[in-house]
Amino acid sequence: MVYSQPHVYATIFALSVLKACALDSYIAAVYEHSVILSEDTKIPVSPEDALMLMNKNMDVLKGAIKAAALQGARIIVTPEDGIYGWVFTRETIYPYLEDIPDPQVNWIPCTDPDRFAPAPVQERLSCMARSNAIYVVANIGDKKPCNSSDPKCPSDGHYQYNTDVVFDSEGKLVARYHKYNLFVTETQFDYPKEPEFVTFNTSFGKFGIFTCADILFHDPAVVLVSKLQVDTVLFPTAWVNTLPLLSASQFHSAWAMGMGINFLSANTRNSSLDMTGSGIYAPNGPRAFHYNTETENGHLLVVELSSHPRLSPTYPIAVNWSSYATSIKRFSPDDRNFSGVIYFDKFTFTELTKPEGNRTVCQKDLCCHLSYRMVEKQEDEVYVLGAFDGLHVVEGEYYLQICTLLKCKSTNLKTCGQPVATAHTSFDTFSLSGTFGTSYIFPEVLLTGVQLAPGEFQVLSDGRLISQNGTSKPILTVTLFGRWYEKDPP
Ligand SMILES: *[C@@H]1O[C@H](CO)[C@@H](O)[C@H](O)[C@H]1NC(C)=O
Ligand SMILES: *[C@@H]1O[C@H](CO)[C@@H](O)[C@H](O)[C@H]1NC(C)=O
Ligand SMILES: *[C@@H]1O[C@H](CO)[C@@H](O)[C@H](O)[C@H]1NC(C)=O
Ligand SMILES: *[C@@H]1O[C@H](CO)[C@@H](O)[C@H](O)[C@H]1NC(C)=O
Ligand SMILES: *[C@@H]1O[C@H](CO)[C@@H](O)[C@H](O)[C@H]1NC(C)=O
Ligand SMILES: *[C@@H]1O[C@H](CO)[C@@H](O)[C@H](O)[C@H]1NC(C)=O
Ligand SMILES: *[C@@H]1O[C@H](CO)[C@@H](O)[C@H](O)[C@H]1NC(C)=O
Repeated sequence: MVYSQPHVYATIFALSVLKACALDSYIAAVYEHSVILSEDTKIPVSPEDALMLMNKNMDVLKGAIKAAALQGARIIVTPEDGIYGWVFTRETIYPYLEDIPDPQVNWIPCTDPDRFAPAPVQERLSCMARSNAIYVVANIGDKKPCNSSDPKCPSDGHYQYNTDVVFDSEGKLVARYHKYNLFVTETQFDYPKEPEFVTFNTSFGKFGIFTCADILFHDPAVVLVSKLQVDTVLFPTAWVNTLPLLSASQFHSAWAMGMGINFLSANTRNSSLDMTGSGIYAPNGPRAFHYNTETENGHLLVVELSSHPRLSPTYPIAVNWSSYATSIKRFSPDDRNFSGVIYFDKFTFTELTKPEGNRTVCQKDLCCHLSYRMVEKQEDEVYVLGAFDGLHVVEGEYYLQICTLLKCKSTNLKTCGQPVATAHTSFDTFSLSGTFGTSYIFPEVLLTGVQLAPGEFQVLSDGRLISQNGTSKPILTVTLFGRWYEKDPP
């Protein structure tokens, strides 16, 4: 192809405009959506009925998208399963699916709806993005026909994928991601053959996308951050809160800090499944979060973030997570340790019997050290220090190294590790560290009422998670949650 002179000028002009418009910060939005569910997901419905239900949900999302745009948001994330809900079979999800093309086709469904028709959901999402001039992130289902030329082709003749899509502010499809780490209950969907590493550039930073259980695994999550150097992760999720260590805001904000990126997490809201907890998290702490135990309503969060957090003066220092813990002697012998279970994993615990002290508890190669002082030791509350070093094997297999200070459910030590959401014991100070073999550590501090503690704790470069001045509310858990990806089974 021969380029004419004007085209070259136009390119140079476009590049300088792009540079001039590059933003140091931008406004981000996430919407926690209370999904309108189908009455019965075990009976197949017609495509018309499926679309009617999806339109009801998109009517709600439309309001949130408009409200976010009016507050200046450049991008909004909506939840996983947010348009049709959950608990489908392969057959009953089918009428909800659309064939979603590779974004390389360069398609604006809003202005060219027939090109890959039928695609009414993509068309409507694209129009919402375009008419509000905002990037829209949504989760829908993709179907891809296959046949006997592919030995893996399912017997019903197509693949079905749990899929995230992104439409830019002109309504163009710019990203399509097929969820790689399906949760065990998602039998309606197929696993993609290979993990997809989906990114896109904007004038307000580089974005990557993955969904729900993906956050526990190396591919694609860690590759997007460590190798592809995205600035912000987009995270549609339908996350069931699992205290004491894996409630949504607690773990997602910790992942943002541990990985050093912005993280936009939109959860679904459903009280009977304990689904709530959405947030906008930065590397140096949560900027906005929402945890709803009061209502079944949705909720919009809108807040400003750095476009390139790695270049920001407040970017956290590099941390050697084992430096302090390997440099000191064990505080106390493991004389009164005992076993307890957190989410199917057998921890070694030691009770904090005194109002202040220095304690160590070990399991396999991991020793966890804690120095602490309580404001006042409560007679009716028991806290323990716990260590776990091993392979988690229920609902997914992944290797963990965890140090945790937590409140037991009751004064009976057998309840240590069980979910509990309230506490009355405040700490003046704490310092938690561990002899970790991995450098992927996610620091969590969770207060009574399942509340985060932005700005109330620090991670030091030697790997200590500390609070010098205490936290604003009593403590549920203080945790260094480590993932040792190299030890995962293949
Ligand atoms: C089988 O599928 C492949 C790719 O999906 C396609 O190219 C081919 O034409 C199909 N063959 C038949 C017999 O439908
Ligand atoms: C994003 O921009 C960077 C350079 O600014 C470039 O290296 C990268 O290939 C771009 N990525 C995409 C997905 O366009
Ligand atoms: C929450 O989800 C359950 C299980 O799918 C469903 O039965 C219930 O109606 C949902 N609650 C609301 C308020 O939608
Ligand atoms: C972290 O600190 C420990 C102890 O000082 C040292 O042995 C190790 O090499 C350090 N790790 C890195 C990656 O610098
Ligand atoms: C307690 O600690 C000792 C010494 O480290 C260890 O051998 C033992 O297995 C631990 N007990 C439990 C229940 O973890
Ligand atoms: C804990 O250890 C520190 C030094 O590591 C010491 O200054 C402090 O007195 C100890 N606290 C208690 C209660 O033993
Ligand atoms: C703790 O309080 C002291 C004195 O009020 C203050 O100088 C220090 O900056 C505070 N530290 C943190 C981490 O907030």
